[in-house]
Amino acid sequence: MRRRGKTKERIAIFGTGYVGLTMAAFFLKRGHPVICVDVIKDRVTKISNGRSPIYMPGLDEILSDGINTGKLMATSDGLTAARCSRMSFICVGTPSRPDGTIDLRHVRSVSKEIGDGLKGRKDFPVVVMKSTVIPLTCKDIVRPILEKRSKMKAGKGFGLVCNPEFLKEGESLSDSMNPDRIVLGSIDERSSKMVGDLYKGLNAPLILTDLTTAEMIKYAANTFLAAKVGLSNEIANICSAHGVDVYEVMKGVGLDERIGPHFLRAGAGFGGSCFPKDLKALRAAAMKAKVPLRILPSVLEQNEVQPLETVRLLNGALKGLRGRRIALLGLSFKPNTDDVRETRAVPILRALLKQGATVRIFDVNKGAMENFINHVKDLGMTKRIIPCASIEAALKGSDGAIIQTESKEFKALRPKDIKNWMRRPIIIDGRRTLDPHLMARSGIIYRGIGWKNL
Ligand code: UDX
Repeated sequence: MRRRGKTKERIAIFGTGYVGLTMAAFFLKRGHPVICVDVIKDRVTKISNGRSPIYMPGLDEILSDGINTGKLMATSDGLTAARCSRMSFICVGTPSRPDGTIDLRHVRSVSKEIGDGLKGRKDFPVVVMKSTVIPLTCKDIVRPILEKRSKMKAGKGFGLVCNPEFLKEGESLSDSMNPDRIVLGSIDERSSKMVGDLYKGLNAPLILTDLTTAEMIKYAANTFLAAKVGLSNEIANICSAHGVDVYEVMKGVGLDERIGPHFLRAGAGFGGSCFPKDLKALRAAAMKAKVPLRILPSVLEQNEVQPLETVRLLNGALKGLRGRRIALLGLSFKPNTDDVRETRAVPILRALLKQGATVRIFDVNKGAMENFINHVKDLGMTKRIIPCASIEAALKGSDGAIIQTESKEFKALRPKDIKNWMRRPIIIDGRRTLDPHLMARSGIIYRGIGWKNL
């Protein structure tokens, strides 16, 4: 029984990917009982054993603590989970279809389950959309499903809120505790008040708006950030041609308050589960609505060719790649994650293979290594790829190397090891991981996108 002010509301989290598990950890830390729901049985078993089904630093501890104290449960029975929770958070994946539109299959199926769980309720349960969904999804798809299955009206029998997440993978636990803002789009004040209370005490402005504006805020933010990276990359390419250092340029640019210092790191392009997918979904939605676009498609196009700059530079340094042994360091889409979705390592690998190189691949994260190997197999790339168990194994006897993520282990590479291990000490860095002056002084050919050769 809930005692006002003492017992915290029970929360059901539908979907145990990066977003769902971060939210589960967030609510557990704030004292809420949490039920995680997933159709994938293996995930449910792992969570029930207090283990995280995905790699996220610090998560195992929070989950095992939740299981040991009885605050956390995991199940595949979404109906019961929705029935016995005051709030149901939709955190399922919204993957891209080949035409760029998002696949709402999982959103629809959990909305049905939750709708059934709302039936006959008198306590005004609230449904919260956390997944990234294209504008009008909550209003035109989720709301009608919930109303039909629960036989209640939104705003009368139950609440509906769109509360997009802005979490960065690898930093999501700290991001969730320190958000820049909390966006609550809702159908009525009562729903947004209830969800707003969950975030009480966090030092962040609350944006109260309608469902569709909240959906759009998420897409607009990701488009802006991706475009910022893309623009830095374009400027980097111009810097390369003029012998100017883009990192110095962006230091000067980022101090302008109107621009800000973040997301100006030029390099091999952006990847991950959000930027490419969200920009493609927004482009598809705009096309459907017959809105002509110019900038957004260019950001995506630029990001397709940007990683190939690393291969072009390596080709230039080695005067051809046929028969060369090349080390590719960093396979995930960014450091500290096992996620290889839209990683720029794929176009780099494809180009290296196409030009006749043999590629020795390595990532410091074991999960990233496995995921990448499976991913490239699925893409039909099997020959001339050699997985390596260490940085040394990847670099040993190599004619050149490309660094694709700025992992701290790559940052720690010592010139003397590079020179001892590699057949030719040539490194092309897609992220500016090492110190160009130290490398040049040590006789290493160290080049990258947007800086002059020392
Ligand atoms: C991003 C958004 O930051 C987050 O708010 C949203 O909820 C999901 O998408 P994430 O995909 O985890 O988060 O990674 P992020 O750290 O933002 O990096 C995205 C990509 O951009 C990475 O491939 C990264 O290497 C690249 N990037 C980022 C750059 O190339 N340069 C930069 O300056 C910043």
